[in-house]
Amino acid sequence: MKNMKRYKLNRENLDQVLNQWNRKTKVYVPTGEGKDISLMPLLEGQRTEDYINLTLPVKEFVFEQKEKLFSWEKNDDDLEVTNLAHQHAAERILFGVRACDTYGIAFTDRFYLQEFLDPNYRSRRSGTTIIAVNCLRAGEHCFCTSIGTGVFSTVGYDIALTPLGSIYLVEVATQKGQALIDAAALHFTEAEESLMEKKDALRLQVEESFPLKMDLSNLWEDMAKTFDADFWLREANACIACTGCTNVCPTCTCFNVVEENKNLNKGERVRYWDSCQSEHFTRNAEHHNPRDAVSRVRYRIYDKLKYIEERFGYKGCSGCGRCTDVCPTYISIIDIIHATQKAVRENQTPAAVHQTTKIRHEIIDREINMKKGLYTPDIATITRVKQETPEIKRIFMKYDDPELHTNYEYKGQFFQVTVFGEGEVPLSIPFGPDHTDEFVFDFKNVGNVTNVLYHMKEGDQVGLRGPYGHAFPYNALKGRNLIFVGSGVAMAPLRTVIEPVIKNPNDFQQIIILASALRYEKLIYKDEMKEWEKIENVNIKYALKDPSDHIDAHIGYVNDLLPDLGLNWTNTTALVCASPKRIKKVARDLMDLGMKPSDILVTLETHMRCGAGKCGHCKVGSHYMCVDGPVFTYEEMMALPPEY
Ligand SMILES: Cc1cc2nc3c(=O)[nH]c(=O)nc-3n(C[C@H](O)[C@H](O)[C@H](O)COP(=O)(O)OP(=O)(O)OC[C@H]3O[C@@H](n4cnc5c(N)ncnc54)[C@H](O)[C@@H]3O)c2cc1C
Ligand code: SF4
Ligand code: SF4
Ligand code: FES
Repeated sequence: MKNMKRYKLNRENLDQVLNQWNRKTKVYVPTGEGKDISLMPLLEGQRTEDYINLTLPVKEFVFEQKEKLFSWEKNDDDLEVTNLAHQHAAERILFGVRACDTYGIAFTDRFYLQEFLDPNYRSRRSGTTIIAVNCLRAGEHCFCTSIGTGVFSTVGYDIALTPLGSIYLVEVATQKGQALIDAAALHFTEAEESLMEKKDALRLQVEESFPLKMDLSNLWEDMAKTFDADFWLREANACIACTGCTNVCPTCTCFNVVEENKNLNKGERVRYWDSCQSEHFTRNAEHHNPRDAVSRVRYRIYDKLKYIEERFGYKGCSGCGRCTDVCPTYISIIDIIHATQKAVRENQTPAAVHQTTKIRHEIIDREINMKKGLYTPDIATITRVKQETPEIKRIFMKYDDPELHTNYEYKGQFFQVTVFGEGEVPLSIPFGPDHTDEFVFDFKNVGNVTNVLYHMKEGDQVGLRGPYGHAFPYNALKGRNLIFVGSGVAMAPLRTVIEPVIKNPNDFQQIIILASALRYEKLIYKDEMKEWEKIENVNIKYALKDPSDHIDAHIGYVNDLLPDLGLNWTNTTALVCASPKRIKKVARDLMDLGMKPSDILVTLETHMRCGAGKCGHCKVGSHYMCVDGPVFTYEEMMALPPEY
């Protein structure tokens, strides 16, 4: 706010002011004693000033631990979905918030209100007024001064109070804050300039009194050198994955999504706080989990101290020290920083240095229909189902609202597909830009949601959100040789390019599709491939584990076929979809033949819950696979942390 105003308030009048505000808007104040301090509704004589910090961050007022996203109901043939984000709006004033938590609020504002705006957060946040009261002493594990977010609030508040003897210096940062001052104007008088000097002197004094001071100027370099250091195994062995550290963190934003209160005809989708420290967080289908215990524990620390800042340009840790306070096994972010610095100082670092690099952060600023909300799907009805293989089906569908087809823009790599009452899964777009009046998904029956989807039939209804993600750069492929490498259902994400390529073969040089599966029956798109093969510059080669009478296939891996393709490798782009392990093997062989890693395009599939950069499940290093990917070059993939 321009021309930020400053006032004085007699400390003895504070309760009167709070009571006055409370008549119109519910005021929450610090209540309790010792380390058990929470923001509670204002009650006579209950407010305490004797606290270092709140036990839990104020985040829970704006990002609820558990909240409803939407409800759905079936009446005869009619399925209706209702966005519930607006339910969460409530007016309240949060008083007594410390700098580490106002930083947390500024953090969650930037996170949830930009790049795929979160309607639930906005609903809660717009009714919330934050009044900071600056700290005069530090807790045992406070390190906001080292990290640079404290000791006095600079962001994330509407009004900030600094105790200066018998008065408070009152600084107003927003219109909302000014409205509160105006509502109790009798108690506030304009502050003289000298009070700012007093405030600055007090800040220096408080900063000086902090017992914990760390020099973090070389932290990123030190972390790169200690990515594989021995102490990570010690920390991982100690962690019991209780998720306490993430639950108390003002900058943790991850959530899970589940179906609740459901029967055959109605239900609700609900989100609740989730934690990268829980074992299931990155689990994929068939119980594959790319993150082991060491990478799980290391990820939280790297995320807070590096990845978030690398991705968004603002700090991911406010230095509140709560995660250290709460850990039952004494895992401490502070001790880990010290261990990192000690290992570098004593030259005990492993030979390999892991340095993640910036990939690309184009903001996909898609307009969110606020009435519908980010998480509410549109309804589509299944028009046809085709059995592709014994485990894979092609499912065709149309939006119930034809306008959604008219307005559809082919911009993205996947949709979030809802089976009402069961859940939501990411499925790739296996069709090209011409396919606007009917959508198709090819999927394998692997778990809860895909199993119910697998048994759905013509006339059944599902939900669609999307499209999401960065797609393959179709136009950049023109004039080049193309190799598509995919096994089984992993051909589906490639088909979004194959389809338009097959329609315009003259735009390309050689088009080679390397299709593989364990057995012939498991090959996807068998019928179409026979048609595609008839095109002059299209060459389809098969690799199977077991021989088949139906096709002439190489018995072994697709990699074996690469050397005999006889391509001009410098004018070739490869598009590969497989597990990270298989991708690495194919890419290595392609590079041995002379391809550049930037000409190998891969699509990386991780556990996804929201598709829109919010739930955190898909994050690898500083990248959200759902919005920064899932399509990357192999060069970019190699810059991700080695856990992938
Ligand atoms: C960008 C992207 C595109 C995909 N495209 C396709 C496709 O076209 N065809 C296809 O068959 N499969 C595709 N998958 C994989 C598909 O999403 C999973 O098989 C599916 O989520 C499994 O859910 P489930 O409930 O059946 O399995 P469960 O094992 O019961 O999974 C429970 C939950 O874990 C998560 N999960 C489990 N496995 C995965 C996974 N591999 N990827 C992401 N989240 C997972 C989901 O959120 C799921 O709801 C894609 C995945 C991603 C990330
Ligand atoms: S990581 Fe720990 S110290 Fe940093 S903001 Fe979160 S809880 Fe506080
Ligand atoms: S609080 Fe400690 S034990 Fe619990 S998940 Fe966090 S680091 Fe692990
Ligand atoms: S952040 Fe939710 S899926 Fe990527």
